[in-house]
This record gives sequence, C-alpha cells and structure tokens, in this order.
Amino acid sequence: MSDKEKELAGSKVSDFIEDGMILGLGTGSTFYYAIKKIGEMVKNGLKIEAVSTSSSTDTLAQSLNIPLLSIDDVETIDLTIDGADEVDPNFNGIKGGGGALLFEKVVAKSSKKNLWVVNSAKMVDKLGAFPLPIEVVPYALGNVFKKLEARGYNPRIRMRDGEKYLTDSGNNIIDASLGAIEDAYKLEVELNMIPGVVENGLFLDVVDIVIVGKGNGVEVIKKSS
Ligand code: 5RP
Repeated sequence: MSDKEKELAGSKVSDFIEDGMILGLGTGSTFYYAIKKIGEMVKNGLKIEAVSTSSSTDTLAQSLNIPLLSIDDVETIDLTIDGADEVDPNFNGIKGGGGALLFEKVVAKSSKKNLWVVNSAKMVDKLGAFPLPIEVVPYALGNVFKKLEARGYNPRIRMRDGEKYLTDSGNNIIDASLGAIEDAYKLEVELNMIPGVVENGLFLDVVDIVIVGKGNGVEVIKKSS
C-alpha cells in the first residue's frame, strides 16, 4: 500500500516541471518514482538540467540521461523535488533518513521552489516521532554523542553493515529520538551550535508544495504565502 502511495506521489511531479528548468534532484525511495518520471519526460523531449543531492541520485540520473550540473555552476535552482521523513501542518519537515540531508539542504536552500513527494504515513501533527538525523564530522562523533545524551536526546550512531554509516561527505550520522519536538526553530539553532555538527535534518520553512500519495490517489497541498 505505502509503496503504491510513493509511486503515485512521485509520478505526479510531471505537473510541475517545465522545459528549460534547472531542477534539484532529491534522494530516497519516493523520489525514485519522481526521477523515473523525469527520465521518461526527458526521453520524450523535455529539456531540463539538474543538480543532484547524492551519489545514488547521480547514478540514477546518469542512467536516465538526465543532464547534471554541479551546484557550483548554478545561481539558483527553479524547482527541487525530494522526499521527506515527516511533514507537519506548518510545512516543516524532517529529512535525512536516507543520509543525504546535507546536500539536500544545500540544494533546497538554493531553490526558488521546493516540492516534496511523500506517502500518507509521513504526514504528522508534530515532528519528532522519526529520529532526527544529525550529521557530524568523524573526529567529533563521540564528543557530540555525549553532549546529545546529556541533554536527553537519545542519540544513536547510525550503522550500516556493521560499520559506522558514512555520508557522501565522509561524515557520520547520529539519529536522535526526541519524541514530539516543541520548538523546532530553537532546536535547529541549538544543534548547529554544537561544534562538530555539520547539519541536522530539520527542514524549516523550506517546502512550498507537498504531494501526498493517499490510497489510490494523491493530494497536492500548497503552502499559502
Ligand atoms: C534522504 C531523505 C529522504 O528524502 C527521506 O529519507 C525520505 O525517504 P523515502 O522516500 O525513502 O522514505 O531525506 O536523505
């Protein structure tokens, strides 16, 4: 059911893409359906260029003949399409379940518009049930872990195949199980003030449009300006 919802949401992105756009390409299993759709559109003649947010998306984009640019080569990105782990009624979200939060935030914050594709389970009343990813330089991993633990943030070092997870930048990730986040803005600043923290997965005031896969259909929700 939930994969069907991801596919429905991802495929709907075609409504928002126009010839000549520079797109930001996100990362993840829902975004997978969006990039497949974009690839299909490119095959049918759509002219776009794109900036990718991860090595896995680089590979997918190349396999679909989507022309890629470096983030350094663009002034602004017209539209970034990405997934999310949680989205609240204020259009704030948690991202980074797939480990690409740093590049995703760089690209999102360089974009005129951001669109997220999610399945219905991602829509929440309050952020925080999903563990918040925090990207940390390896040197400071243990130090940051202890600071988070002392603050009661229930940190866990992300592992993959028995090793510490490494991001595309060679950093580690700590997932913090916070429970309901009362003040996400305050928390974002607090986390980024800890030396060694590179970025965190709070995406506040970033997204403009959310496409939610719901059962056999989709709902498109737009942030009122
Ligand atoms: C990767 C992300 C993903 O967009 C997020 O984790 C959602 O992934 P999925 O669509 O696979 O559930 O932020 O860093």
